[in-house]
Amino acid sequence: MALPHGEIIWITGASSGIGLELAKKLAALGNQVLVTARNAQVLEALAAESDQIIAVPADLAQPDCIDSLQHQLRQHVSYLDRIILNAGTCEYLDINAPDWLMMERVMEVNFYGAVRSLAAALPLLESNADAARHVVAVGSQASRVIFPRAEAYGASKAALTYFMEALAVDLAAQNIKVTVVQPGFVETPLTSKNDFPMPFLVPVNEAVDHIVKRLASKPAFIRFPLAMNWVLGVGSLLPGLWRRWVAPQLTRST
Ligand SMILES: NC(=O)c1ccc[n+]([C@@H]2O[C@H](COP(=O)([O-])OP(=O)(O)OC[C@H]3O[C@@H](n4cnc5c(N)ncnc54)[C@H](OP(=O)(O)O)[C@@H]3O)[C@@H](O)[C@H]2O)c1
Repeated sequence: MALPHGEIIWITGASSGIGLELAKKLAALGNQVLVTARNAQVLEALAAESDQIIAVPADLAQPDCIDSLQHQLRQHVSYLDRIILNAGTCEYLDINAPDWLMMERVMEVNFYGAVRSLAAALPLLESNADAARHVVAVGSQASRVIFPRAEAYGASKAALTYFMEALAVDLAAQNIKVTVVQPGFVETPLTSKNDFPMPFLVPVNEAVDHIVKRLASKPAFIRFPLAMNWVLGVGSLLPGLWRRWVAPQLTRST
């Protein structure tokens, strides 16, 4: 299957980790790439390195960001071929000293941030007569089974996945395909803060190569790495056993 080439692609969360590597890789393949995150300096530096990259800084956690985002996108392009809704954050719940507002912080970026991005970009996808249109959202394997302390992160990714799967049905008549990427653990600044073992950890360039290779076929899901797919696939088929015997083993020892 061919790799994306000559497309106009918008990537959110492109100032670090998976989004940054995706932006570099897709620009190097000859796509025009619009990049969004809060850190405008990093985005401008990225754009300065490549004529193919355009910085569109924004804070997706702001409820009123949709109109200004769309306005910014329209200043640069009149349509989009593909959007990759990747911006995300992760915080864990400490049940002994709970910070309940953390649930909102995580949902604001991981779920509502993706909804707002979709709202801003959909008219630009719809105004593209080409058949290549594609909505991609980066979820997580974490939403397939229960992980301790992941009340916020897991719930946000489960909500995002449901939203995208429903959207896939609603956008089918317009021939806009929807993909949910569900990575396992990938080496990025987000996981560098984790204080527990991360089985099957994948280097970020490998993760991005895998995602980019699969984009053209627009599958419903891109799940990796394979070993994680198997373990969590079995776990999701046996949720009671997972919850009773496996999930409790995954808590921090300290
Ligand atoms: N790494 C993993 O193991 C893993 C596994 C499964 C899923 N994922 C998902 O993959 C995606 C990328 O994660 P990563 O590991 O690459 O993390 P990362 O390096 O921390 O990158 C997160 C990106 O999201 C952006 N972002 C955060 N809050 C934002 C906001 N309010 N508005 C706009 N942009 C915002 C950050 O930019 P600014 O700080 O500049 O705003 C950054 O560019 C996330 O959705 C994450 O949940 C990661």
